[in-house]
Amino acid sequence: MEDDRIVTAHLMMEDQAVEYSLRPRYLAEYIGQEQVKDNLKIYIEAAKMRREPLDHVLLYGPPGLGKTTLSNIIANELGVNLRTTSGPAIERPGDLAAILTNLQENDVLFIDEIHRLHRTVEEVLYPAMEDFALDFIIGKGPSARSVRLDLPKFTLIGATTRAGLLSAPLRDRFGVVSRLEFYNIDELAYIVSRTADILGVGIVGEASVEVARRSRGTPRIANRLLKRVRDYAQVRGDGIITDEIAHDSLERIQVDPMGLDAIDHKMLRSMIQNYRGGPVGLDTIAASIGEESQTIEDVYEPYLMQIGFLQRTPRGRVVSPLAYRHLGLPIPDNNV
Ligand SMILES: Nc1ncnc2c1ncn2[C@@H]1O[C@H](COP(=O)(O)OP(=O)(O)O)[C@@H](O)[C@H]1O
Ligand SMILES: [Mg+2]
Repeated sequence: MEDDRIVTAHLMMEDQAVEYSLRPRYLAEYIGQEQVKDNLKIYIEAAKMRREPLDHVLLYGPPGLGKTTLSNIIANELGVNLRTTSGPAIERPGDLAAILTNLQENDVLFIDEIHRLHRTVEEVLYPAMEDFALDFIIGKGPSARSVRLDLPKFTLIGATTRAGLLSAPLRDRFGVVSRLEFYNIDELAYIVSRTADILGVGIVGEASVEVARRSRGTPRIANRLLKRVRDYAQVRGDGIITDEIAHDSLERIQVDPMGLDAIDHKMLRSMIQNYRGGPVGLDTIAASIGEESQTIEDVYEPYLMQIGFLQRTPRGRVVSPLAYRHLGLPIPDNNV
């Protein structure tokens, strides 16, 4: 199961307690994503000067890259309240209407997994985002009339792992659309040291890099691996995370030097052994390893493509020579 993986980017129960303290609170503490930050800095400054709400912001990218964190930071930097909800949590149009009417001027409303909003709820959002208004129909039949209710001006921040699933009318109503990228090793190593500081555990520089390298470009995974390594250091060593402790403990939990785990290996090997490395369709891959297509598309594939192990072609996914080399398998002639 995806959620049993140590490298899963999804939030697990054990994370939640410390999660809060690890979250950066201000842009200056938010590592990486320089372009996104630079833009936001200007928009936030301008909105504050005009005493107006920030334009609606859409944040998208794979899980664990910092979308929720960034939303919190935006509200913080603006000095306004943040109201948090998620697409599937809003069941009826009336639920959304209630949330909207309770906002204060310039507040931020954060809707996580916004691609999962119900259609009928989404329709309430259109006039709310565009005109800060709610439209009602009162009465029935020939005497029915439409009534408009003004809302406080607010900023909607939507987060999604699947920007492609957003309807065009919703997508078009965001003034700022930012894609979060995977983090590089330096950035992740920095995040690891910062987290170690917060957790009160010593770590040598090279060990931070070792953890970073196996974190799939994802801060949430970096923090999780660090916690495992810390446990190992406490039991096996004297509490300080050395290079050797980091290396040994990460080997033990079967995260390879590129951050791939047993399931990544299974997927790549299955594609190579059963489908000559592809092209092979997503659903076929999913069936052959017993995972959901959507999980593969959201969670596994983006990183494998990022590191050049997998390519997407019109006829399906193809394993690249880099992946063969990593797995220690001979590269077949037909492979491009
Ligand atoms: N840019 C960053 N700098 C430092 N830590 C980060 C950064 N982005 C994410 N994190 C850490 O990773 C964790 C997961 O981030 P989160 O915002 O929950 O990701 P997402 O909402 O995209 O799934 C956060 O708790 C935070 O500790
Ligand atoms: Mg999130």
